[in-house]
Amino acid sequence: MAPKKKDSNGFHPRIVVFACNWCSYAGADLAGVSRLQYPADIRVIRTMCSGRVNPAFILKAFKMGADGVLWTGCHFGDCHYMFGNYRAEENYQRLAKILDLLGIEKERYGLEWISAAEGQRWSRIINEFVENVQKLGPKKLGVKS
Ligand code: FES
Repeated sequence: MAPKKKDSNGFHPRIVVFACNWCSYAGADLAGVSRLQYPADIRVIRTMCSGRVNPAFILKAFKMGADGVLWTGCHFGDCHYMFGNYRAEENYQRLAKILDLLGIEKERYGLEWISAAEGQRWSRIINEFVENVQKLGPKKLGVKS
């Protein structure tokens, strides 16, 4: 992992990443083993499947002060629980509408599919996500912990 990214104002975003155990977490692990650089601004929460992530977890992360939340899992057809990622996709679409109503910019959240073999993809997605959140600055809504 690279050091925390700091913009010219000294802002370190607080970013939560939900990663499924079988694919995206393994992709993160591969990125680490391969010594690929990605910022240390993220806090990874491992779940057994992206379908296990309740949208309320994401709302809570924002409420507790996260500047961005990324939801990741296996590509379609690779989910170890068959259809968990399809459920995640449906829930994400519903959640995105709620987050939009709450005024949270769409660059602050996302859903990405990353396989265990895609360490480079993990690194690229995390770098881009952190950069985008940094450009927005600190989230204005929510309770800072
Ligand atoms: S096990 Fe990875 S998305 Fe279901």
